[in-house]
Amino acid sequence: MNSSRENGDKGLDPREDGFPEGTDPLDNQVAGHRFGYSATHLALLRHLESNDILKPICDKRSEREFRLYSKIWDSNHDFHEDIQTLRQFVPKMNGVFVDHKTGREYLRLEDMTNGMTSPSILDVKIGPKTYDPEANERKIASESGKYRFAELLGFRLLGMRIYKSKDNEYIVKDKDYGISLTPDTVNEAITLFVQNNKALISEFGHQMRAIGEWFETHNTDKWQFISSSLLFAYDCNQSKALVKMIDFAHVFPNEGRDDNYLFGLNKLITYFDNLL
Ligand SMILES: Nc1ncnc2c1ncn2[C@@H]1O[C@H](COP(=O)(O)OP(=O)(O)O)[C@@H](O)[C@H]1O
Ligand SMILES: [Mg+2]
Repeated sequence: MNSSRENGDKGLDPREDGFPEGTDPLDNQVAGHRFGYSATHLALLRHLESNDILKPICDKRSEREFRLYSKIWDSNHDFHEDIQTLRQFVPKMNGVFVDHKTGREYLRLEDMTNGMTSPSILDVKIGPKTYDPEANERKIASESGKYRFAELLGFRLLGMRIYKSKDNEYIVKDKDYGISLTPDTVNEAITLFVQNNKALISEFGHQMRAIGEWFETHNTDKWQFISSSLLFAYDCNQSKALVKMIDFAHVFPNEGRDDNYLFGLNKLITYFDNLL
């Protein structure tokens, strides 16, 4: 048995078995687990035929995420106003993909960059508290020590890629870059992402406000979105811009408002507004 299989793996090592048929690694991923490198070695893939994004359903957290996506896109909830309103901010779930070689299941999500040419993408984790109600002491300590400005900012840049049309190339920034940002330099990072385009800043601010409104009006006594992200994307001619909520591995039932999420979201909106 090699060391990778001792590491909590369930017998599949993509480095030996390759990717499921009809899939590739996610080419424009900016953050999160990487196929072949996470604890289970599983992570996001692209379904080549549909262009959908595949997220493995392989442990407690991914099953939790799958249940939430299923609830949001369940047709029984078509007339439920809270859910209806939320749908516009969440990637569409297109059922489940099964890897016939291993029997493993993947959540199929619409790629929010569909229709965008050379998209620029930014992933921001929202909320100062990033550990969920099931976290043990060790997890609480490790999450709390991850970013020294978490309490102050309430959000953290996880990664981004920016398409520079002039040079026809991408600038890529990773997790370490995000952790190195301070309350004084985070605006430079946002400016870098939007390439100083005020119309884009204003559009993203507008969409974030709509998400905030959903949290204020509809997400009361419902869910707490812990360690969840906002994913920003725009295409190269900057004519199309979208913000979506992603990463629901730590969404739990809640009483009252989700103040942790709202604190981070409102801070992020303020940072965008200050660039106008
Ligand atoms: N619906 C989507 N459309 C486009 N890109 C996505 C989508 N979902 C995830 N991604 C890409 O994958 C990355 C990781 O996704 P995420 O759901 O946060 O996975 P993880 O649980 O591994 O953190 C994101 O930063 C983004 O680059
Ligand atoms: Mg993530």
